[in-house]
Amino acid sequence: MRVQLIGFGNIGQGLAHVLLKKGNSLKKKHGLDIKIVSISDITGTVANDKGVDLKRALDVMGKTGKLIKYPGAKKMSGLEAIEKIDADVVIEATVSNVKTGEPGLSHMLAAMKQKKHVVTSNKGPLALKFKKLQSTAEKNGVEFRFEASVGGAMPILNLARNCLSGDEVLAIRGILNGTTNYILTRMLKEESPFDIVLREAQELGIAEADPSYDIDGIDTASKLVILANAIMGADAAFKDVRIQGIRNITPEAIKLAEEGGYAVKLIGEVSGSHLEVSPRLVPLNHPLNVEGALNVATFETDVAGEVTIVGKGAGSIETNSAILSDLIGIRGAERRKRQ
Ligand SMILES: NC(=O)c1ccc[n+]([C@@H]2O[C@H](COP(=O)([O-])OP(=O)(O)OC[C@H]3O[C@@H](n4cnc5c(N)ncnc54)[C@H](OP(=O)(O)O)[C@@H]3O)[C@@H](O)[C@H]2O)c1
Repeated sequence: MRVQLIGFGNIGQGLAHVLLKKGNSLKKKHGLDIKIVSISDITGTVANDKGVDLKRALDVMGKTGKLIKYPGAKKMSGLEAIEKIDADVVIEATVSNVKTGEPGLSHMLAAMKQKKHVVTSNKGPLALKFKKLQSTAEKNGVEFRFEASVGGAMPILNLARNCLSGDEVLAIRGILNGTTNYILTRMLKEESPFDIVLREAQELGIAEADPSYDIDGIDTASKLVILANAIMGADAAFKDVRIQGIRNITPEAIKLAEEGGYAVKLIGEVSGSHLEVSPRLVPLNHPLNVEGALNVATFETDVAGEVTIVGKGAGSIETNSAILSDLIGIRGAERRKRQ
């Protein structure tokens, strides 16, 4: 499988590490021979028809932080690489933008028009233009897979589509953002104010320098839109979500909730056509009450009743579990098509 990687930050480099470690076992177990024929970041593109030397690419990034410093790298943009280099799959792992969807949206659409399958961890374009991406993939006869865009390593889309495929999913509720869960957990355990816990989370690299995507519920809302569209067949966009973040939560409110047997959590909920992100009271013994940076989601279904899944919602290595499963899924879909 000839793969182009667009974006070589945490996720892209994590994929390189995973392939260096597991490339042979993927070949043996799944007959999946992944060859990264090009890597692009904002500085340029490294291409090699026989496969880019991933160890060298990681070394260059470790030393310089710029892919263009890789010997022989070209000042070719990700978009040009998609248009000019022959490949079967494009993995889109650039920065997420929920206002424009760019640069990911253009990368994904261009890849599909080139009859290349798309795998992505980038939620922004999906939160804005899900239907357009899905219809472009269908029109061009390619797979569009995005397990990593919601819940990181937690296989939430696969669970719904494969294991619960006979069920109707009536509602999904969950914690889809690890940073806010970490902050609320620490506020509960230490009775510390929001600002102090946020600053510490930033120092630890758990929260971004600009934390608003996380703490104002924007990140959770983007993921909710993807779940509503992909699992419940909705035609929702980011603007359809009622959003309230956690900025105004006080340690006193958290303490009071605990005394009453509840934890305060930032919950994303899609139920019918209603999409909402807001701080909610979760009973302390409820499966949604998970601690630290974990993600969790409960499906309410017509046959199975409630099913809950928990896992790591982020991580350079962990999130690549979802990307691998998408690549293996594409391999399976191609085989079925040929039969
Ligand atoms: N990190 C996680 O645990 C995680 C989990 C789930 C989903 N995600 C999503 O996965 C995506 C990647 O996350 P990340 O943590 O790897 O982000 P990151 O470390 O910021 O990396 C983003 C990469 O995209 C590159 N880039 C930006 N604009 C580009 C352009 N126009 N053309 C080509 N490359 C471009 C950046 O290049 P420069 O560095 O040169 O600017 C960088 O290599 C994001 O959408 C994120 O929301 C991340």
